[in-house]
Amino acid sequence: MSTEVLKIDPVSPDGAAIARAAGVLRAGGTVAFPTETVYGLGANGLDEAAVRRVFAAKGRPADNPLILHITALAELAGLVVSVPQTARALAAAFWPGPLTLVLQRSPRVPAVVSAGLPTVAVRMPSHPVAVALIRAAALPIAAPSANLSGRPSPTTAGHVLDDLDGRIDLIVDGGPTAVGVESTVLDLTSDKPALLRPGGVTLEMLARVIGPVAVAPGATADPREGAVTRPRSPGMKYRHYAPVAPLTLVEGDAAAVAVEVRRLLAAELAAGRRAAALVSAELAASLQGESLTAAPPIVAVLGRRADPDEMTANLFARLRELDEQGAEAIVAEGFSERGVGLALMNRLRRAAGGRVVRV
Ligand code: TXA
Ligand code: MG
Repeated sequence: MSTEVLKIDPVSPDGAAIARAAGVLRAGGTVAFPTETVYGLGANGLDEAAVRRVFAAKGRPADNPLILHITALAELAGLVVSVPQTARALAAAFWPGPLTLVLQRSPRVPAVVSAGLPTVAVRMPSHPVAVALIRAAALPIAAPSANLSGRPSPTTAGHVLDDLDGRIDLIVDGGPTAVGVESTVLDLTSDKPALLRPGGVTLEMLARVIGPVAVAPGATADPREGAVTRPRSPGMKYRHYAPVAPLTLVEGDAAAVAVEVRRLLAAELAAGRRAAALVSAELAASLQGESLTAAPPIVAVLGRRADPDEMTANLFARLRELDEQGAEAIVAEGFSERGVGLALMNRLRRAAGGRVVRV
């Protein structure tokens, strides 16, 4: 299969290009497209064979369910058993946007979408290209992140091409995505709403609309760090977002973190490894000002500490760049978990795969 790349204006997407991409989806094909979070790999969510092509292209484990993407609230009723009042309130507040709701699955949705679970995850993206494409296809679109399973989610069409060239039909290139991490996933099927994955719609934002939200264990920590034996969201048990090089995450008070990051970098360099720092602009500036050893580390800057949105938007691109630069050991700075910081730290912990140092 050869993969075609179709460039498109992200603000006012060309109708003819959208119609072509929608045609591929309607014919059962696979199309990667930008959303406001990350690029998704879309297929007709009501066509079992098309959905299987998505699992195959990504090398995704069959027990990890997909998210259905819609463009109007009226479409939700056809995909779920019922729409509870909390879902209506959340949709009114945050849709379209980076929030996914888990509800009871309608029999109309093929079981393969949900990996056999009785529930289904649904979200309404806000990116103009995603909206135009889903509308033109006139279908609920099943779309996981458009990366090979285990790789960081793609925030540019180039990332998608790196992972999936030759494995999917089409990539709609609408430039880099804004949020940079995947949507918030909220389970509304148990007594109390439960956060399964933190994202751009923060805990604080959710609480303002529906009151306190429970946090599933794997939503904050790495699944292998603690006692998460049976995760409620199957995706939480996999090591995601992983760069090739082992990543050590340093958490704690900012000043102590800076000291420990320096110490670990110096140790890696002294051991002859190509060490890399994944840090804020502030820490990067101080690292560049001193000589740790004769060989300087690679320094990947996430953004300013004061701007967690910026740091979050840059995370996955920086992880991919560190792979390309041949980093052999990555030392990452930890940050506050307030607001979108929770999503940033969740992805960093997953990239660390249990190598977390608390200072
Ligand atoms: O922002 C996003 O959500 C992106 C864009 C493309 O929309 N999509 C995305 O999909 O991140 P994916 O497949 O990479 O992540 C979906 C997550 C997984 O952790 C999966 O386990 C969880 O949602 N999930 C899906 N359906 C579920 C369900 N029925 N119950 C619990 N968790 C579910
Ligand atoms: Mg994913």
